[in-house]
Amino acid sequence: MSNGTFGIEREARIVKSGVRRVFTPHSPVDDASHFFGREEEASRFVSVINTEGLHVLVYGDRGVGKTSLAITTCRVLLQQIMGGGKYIEKRCDSSDSFETIALKVLKELKIGYQNIETTQTSNSGGKASIRIPVAGGEIDSSRQSATKVTHQVNLSSPSWIAEQLQEKSGIFLIDEIDALSDREDRKKLAELVKLLSDNKSKLKIVMVGIASTGSDLTAGHPSVQRCLKEVQLKRMSDDDIKKIILNGFKKLSQIPSDDVVTKVTDISAGLPHFAHLICLKCAEASVISGNKHVSNDVLDDALNESVKDSENALKDSYTSCLHSFNKPIEYKLIVLGASYCKTAEFRPFDIRQHLRDRVSLDVEVQVINRRLTAVAGRPGGIIEKCGRGYYRFVDPRMPSFVKMVHGVDRGK
Ligand SMILES: Nc1ncnc2c1ncn2[C@@H]1O[C@H](COP(=O)(O)OP(=O)(O)OP(=O)(O)O)[C@@H](O)[C@H]1O
Ligand SMILES: [Mg+2]
Repeated sequence: MSNGTFGIEREARIVKSGVRRVFTPHSPVDDASHFFGREEEASRFVSVINTEGLHVLVYGDRGVGKTSLAITTCRVLLQQIMGGGKYIEKRCDSSDSFETIALKVLKELKIGYQNIETTQTSNSGGKASIRIPVAGGEIDSSRQSATKVTHQVNLSSPSWIAEQLQEKSGIFLIDEIDALSDREDRKKLAELVKLLSDNKSKLKIVMVGIASTGSDLTAGHPSVQRCLKEVQLKRMSDDDIKKIILNGFKKLSQIPSDDVVTKVTDISAGLPHFAHLICLKCAEASVISGNKHVSNDVLDDALNESVKDSENALKDSYTSCLHSFNKPIEYKLIVLGASYCKTAEFRPFDIRQHLRDRVSLDVEVQVINRRLTAVAGRPGGIIEKCGRGYYRFVDPRMPSFVKMVHGVDRGK
């Protein structure tokens, strides 16, 4: 079949088929019918939100499904329990601060923040000036002069913001709070949560971010722990990844072979992004070929497309690390062996076992050790040492990427 100018014809058929609404590697799930697994975390989330004075912090590694859990659960909650209360979402980036986050919620709730009046007074003797917010009227004092100033006051004050939000209800989702580099901003957010909790506010805060511990995201604010309950998201189980694959293909009336399902589950290693990415590429190929059966051959091509579509950060660090060695192929094998390890931290011995079992290669532990030390010693390397004799991937998504590359090599 011809792809038409610029591949438009192919693209039109793919769009029409709806495969990109089922497999969504680049956007979070926001609909319960596309959300799988996570039963335990979702029920904890629901019960926390429905408890007076409690707010939620969702944290975990990059790409485990934090935003999807938060958005999907909030939507269901608002529809079914909270009677359609207001839903506000703020995605932070490095330019955000406590003030910009506060501004977002005030704006969405239509709380006028621009015309707050303060009166600045100064003693006639020229001593230190003070600011007193007034509800109107001038301060009558013969020794003081007063000037009315209209400006955005107290946006940086958690207690002022909490006061404005006191009577409101709904959910305010603050995503990617790890992007807030200033600890002071995270601390203020934690203070805001504490104040809303003390005031028994019906506006619930849900914070989401990448972190290995919850306190990384709240700048270790001690008293917030009582009212900000943590939901830690780990990788999904293989069974849940299989649910994403099987349900997705079923919706599209496509039939993957058992081998394809097993391989995609293995490559994904509990990260739903990769299951969505590879399945999307398989599903697109199936739409174009008109063959509903997704076989190993389809998967090989899909892996190639998936590698091309992967984040540049992964592609670049993998390539530049291997190309910094004279014999990249030897290092590639070691990295592949490491990517088969089921635990985040691994030893040269574990790599040896996996190379034996998975690619029938017998490599001495000392050789693996030397290569690993060299990779871990490279600035900007993809593997780092994390303890005596133990190593780990710098980016937890790298093992899945390495396995996809291996799949492409194997299919050549
Ligand atoms: N429970 C789920 N069921 C089905 N697909 C999911 C689920 N959770 C996440 N996904 C899919 O996995 C991918 C990553 O999800 P999401 O964006 O929610 O992760 P994240 O942890 O917020 O990522 P990041 O750390 O980059 O912000 C998306 O493609 C999303 O569609
Ligand atoms: Mg996210």
